[in-house]
Amino acid sequence: MKDLATFIQKLPKAELHLHIEGTFEPELMFEIAKRNNLKIPFSSADEVKAAYQFNNLQEFLDIYYAGANVLLTEQDFFDLTWAYLKKVASQNVKHVEIFFDPQTHTERGVAFQTVLIGIYKALEKGEKELGITFRLIMSYLRHMSEESAFETLQQSLPFKDLIDGVGLDSSEVGNPPEKFRNVFEASAEEGYKLCAHAGEEGPAEYIWGALDVLKIDRLDHGNRCLEDEKLVERLVQEQMALTLCPLSNLELKVIQDLNTYPLKKMMEAGLLVTLNSDDPAYFGGYMNENFLETAKAIDLSKEEIVTLMKNGFEASWLRAEDKEKWKNEIERIAKEV
Ligand code: ADE
Ligand code: ZN
Repeated sequence: MKDLATFIQKLPKAELHLHIEGTFEPELMFEIAKRNNLKIPFSSADEVKAAYQFNNLQEFLDIYYAGANVLLTEQDFFDLTWAYLKKVASQNVKHVEIFFDPQTHTERGVAFQTVLIGIYKALEKGEKELGITFRLIMSYLRHMSEESAFETLQQSLPFKDLIDGVGLDSSEVGNPPEKFRNVFEASAEEGYKLCAHAGEEGPAEYIWGALDVLKIDRLDHGNRCLEDEKLVERLVQEQMALTLCPLSNLELKVIQDLNTYPLKKMMEAGLLVTLNSDDPAYFGGYMNENFLETAKAIDLSKEEIVTLMKNGFEASWLRAEDKEKWKNEIERIAKEV
């Protein structure tokens, strides 16, 4: 398997579904908690990791939001983002489009600007020093009200030039896309691109809602589209990209087993699917691990891996010429490895 690991390592990758708060490794959590004089209810990083056993999305979200509570200063958000960038640079990730959850922090009294600027400065440094290009997506929390999302939109406006799009995440079931119709429309009017989590735990109808009501440019997860043939047809016809996260799906029991992950079925149907890590500090794997574990479990060929990696750039919000450049680079390197 070393051969496959090397192949995956060497190819340039784009990550399109990544929550920066989900990259908070226990060691850094302890360090930041200590300097902010805050307590976390664990005595060691190993103890924290042992607590990461989830039966569903909500059990994960409860721990994820608790972890994020120790982030207070611009430096904290910078350190969090910089640690992620260094990690993915070592995995040959060349482009990232990352989510941040402003309300998780503004709700606790941390200013929008503190969060944004800390993250943004690290992204700028990453582009300069690590050669990783980026886009930034602020994600509305769907368990909160549309009014609160509107407040977040307002807070973002002075920094519009630093933010590329809006997303929708958190507890899916019971919080359908329709709840956010108006704020998505207003976000589009401000020039933001749109994406939303849908069909992770929620039904296929939520994917229809994300397409027809929210008018998304990209679909996060979307696994449950397979339950609806007409929906698959629509996604294929529009070449709507899906940002899949296999290890996340496994850890959150969205799927029972990676061996039955329906990725090949999705590719054969013509869906534009990409692989991503979602919340790597919590789900046991960054980009390379997501590719490798999936490839081993369902016996992906090198051609299929190449297609998935090219899809990552194709589905990105990079300029057309940059997409072409990276897809050609993947082809070139794949022949050499
Ligand atoms: N926030 C962070 N990770 C998430 C996920 N997988 N689904 C919904 N909201 C999230
Ligand atoms: Zn996600």
